[in-house]
Amino acid sequence: MKKISLTGIKPTGDLHIGNYFGAIKPALELTKEYDARYFIADYHALNTMRDPKGLNSTIRQVAAGWLASGLDPEKVIFYRQSSIPEVFELATMLMAFTAKGLMNRAHAYKAAIQENNEKGDDTDAGINMGLFTYPILMAADIIIFDSDIVPVGKDQVQHIEMAQDIAQSINANYGQQVLKIPQAGVQEDSAVIPGLDGRKMSKSYNNVIPLFVPEKTLRKTIMRITTNSQSVEEPKDPDTSQIFQLYKLFADAAEQEALAGRYRAGGMGWGDAKEELFQVVNRCLTPIRERYDTIMADIPALDKILEQGAEKARPIAAATVKRFRKAAGID
Ligand code: ADP
Ligand code: TRP
Repeated sequence: MKKISLTGIKPTGDLHIGNYFGAIKPALELTKEYDARYFIADYHALNTMRDPKGLNSTIRQVAAGWLASGLDPEKVIFYRQSSIPEVFELATMLMAFTAKGLMNRAHAYKAAIQENNEKGDDTDAGINMGLFTYPILMAADIIIFDSDIVPVGKDQVQHIEMAQDIAQSINANYGQQVLKIPQAGVQEDSAVIPGLDGRKMSKSYNNVIPLFVPEKTLRKTIMRITTNSQSVEEPKDPDTSQIFQLYKLFADAAEQEALAGRYRAGGMGWGDAKEELFQVVNRCLTPIRERYDTIMADIPALDKILEQGAEKARPIAAATVKRFRKAAGID
């Protein structure tokens, strides 16, 4: 039997090239070797997204983004978290075995508390129970499908470790392997894609190159990349330039060598380097953008794909809940 790869993306905003290279592409790579279950974590998004129109639309955007990037719904079970009620049943069961202290240690919760304290606000201001229990719902997402590997960015590793802790304490309590222990499939350091300002590309830093914008907007965005004050004449170091780091993701070896040569020779301004970057990014994204636009033009067909995925997913999820209930004496 093939091993199982599972991951989810929260539909909290436009997909960007950091998400594509850091999450979507490596996860799709794994579908060659693993049985994959990929989903839209829409209830996780509800913790922060309170505008119904916005959430409704980002759910479809992220789903269309996966499909446009090459996810084959015949091969991958592809669904919305909210379509699998068994996940929430399992989350309730996991809560009984989750120490509150474990949740107190979660990075996202700790960061929120620290921010409140620094601002002099009440410690718990603006923190909802969805944020506090986030790792439990995520553990349920993972454990319910007997996942072996969870491809995620480094920031999510703590959540996978918490899922392991929770599952282990359940197995230890019942003296049997009720739940499978998942492993994180972490990207190398090189997979941290820099944003326009050189920090990690992230919606929260407002420094992203979105995946699905018209060509004109794409060019304008790339032209906004921060550069230093080196003159056109000065030779430049490709290895310390985020323009070049981004270029490497899209260009072939010969193109990379040629541009690195131009950097080192001097006589090339940052504007030229950005134009070269735009050309390769646009070449790569154009077909994906076209597929995306086609998918977004037929939302009922997209929803059908997600519903069919949920139909395949639910019996698997129900079997895990049943196994746990039996072990717990609630059968
Ligand atoms: P954001 O930081 O923009 O809010 P998310 O946290 O929603 O992005 O990330 C969704 C997925 O994309 C995660 O698996 C995350 O690790 C990956 N990801 C996000 N930004 C980057 C980046 N700059 N480089 C590599 N991977 C990234
Ligand atoms: N927490 C993940 C993120 O912010 C999204 C997510 C929710 C997830 N459930 C998951 C990822 C289960 C992997 C497995 O990116």
